[in-house]
Amino acid sequence: MFNRRKFIKKSALTAGLFSFSGNLRALTQNNPSIIPPSPSQNNMKPIVISTWDFGVAANADAWKVLSTKGSCLDAVEKGVMVAEADEKNNSVGYGGLPDRDGIVTLDACIMDSDGNIGAVLALENIKHAICVARKVMEKTPHVMLAGKGAYQFALEQGFKTENLLTQESEKAWKEWLKNAKYNPVINSENKNYQNAAPEKLPGNQYNHDTIGMLALDVHGNIAGACTTSGMAFKLHGRIGDSPIIGAGLYIDNEIGGATSTGVGEEVVRNVGSFLVVELMRQGYSPQDACKEAVMRIIRKKPQTAKNIQVGFLALNKKGEYGAYAIQKGFSYAVCNENKQDLILPGKSYY
Ligand code: GLY
Repeated sequence: MFNRRKFIKKSALTAGLFSFSGNLRALTQNNPSIIPPSPSQNNMKPIVISTWDFGVAANADAWKVLSTKGSCLDAVEKGVMVAEADEKNNSVGYGGLPDRDGIVTLDACIMDSDGNIGAVLALENIKHAICVARKVMEKTPHVMLAGKGAYQFALEQGFKTENLLTQESEKAWKEWLKNAKYNPVINSENKNYQNAAPEKLPGNQYNHDTIGMLALDVHGNIAGACTTSGMAFKLHGRIGDSPIIGAGLYIDNEIGGATSTGVGEEVVRNVGSFLVVELMRQGYSPQDACKEAVMRIIRKKPQTAKNIQVGFLALNKKGEYGAYAIQKGFSYAVCNENKQDLILPGKSYY
């Protein structure tokens, strides 16, 4: 880990912790709605949750790590790599739909239980954006790298260049070019719930969904990862919520974590995942916190919200989880010692 972080960690330990715990005790005594932090501990029951049906396969790889007492950070990285490598998943990693210019650009971020973060924005030609994000976190003094700089850094770290545009994605892009209109299909990852677009769009290819994953390990720590190719046929250089810590993902090891999927612009506007975690800090259940974050989006832009999907997913330190979305059809996958392949429907406003 870079020296600055060691320094910051050490300073926090020596100077801050005693006054923090004293203040917190006073705060929680005066305000019972504030949940005191649960410290890291062993023998917690591990759990991993992630967005959409494709989360099942991703959770399975994360579970291999968690069930052998591995760390939540390793679990979320390994987990979302499954979606990044799946060429049939056209909203994440290899096989992701390109931007307006036919270029696949990836956004990803990762956050550990010590508050360390790393992100890559508009990364090209590298399949596992999440692994580059982790390298940003662990090998640099920075938290985000974008575009050519992110690519150059990835090469320096030994990642190999790959063409991410599959034949199928190229075909969809060429089809889209005939009209070149942007009009996202709601719930593109859940074919049973796709809303019909106002006009018939070629191939239902207008998607922009994300894998967001949250894991609690046997040591009682939480980490999260979020990765996507973003909105299909977006403007070149467009960045959504997924690589923005606080928007697409947020972890606070005292409280829990949250992640999001859907139209990133509305999540960024409301700093959605940070909001969910802060609401859980105030005593909201994971589902109620997700619901309130969705309601903020709806209240702020009611007309916009009618025609878009945004979903939040949250996990607290007790291993409780929940989700809420604007539209019906947002699903999420849960994996723990009892169930390895559970898909649940997230509750929704409409
Ligand atoms: N949530 C993914 C995006 O908007 O890019």
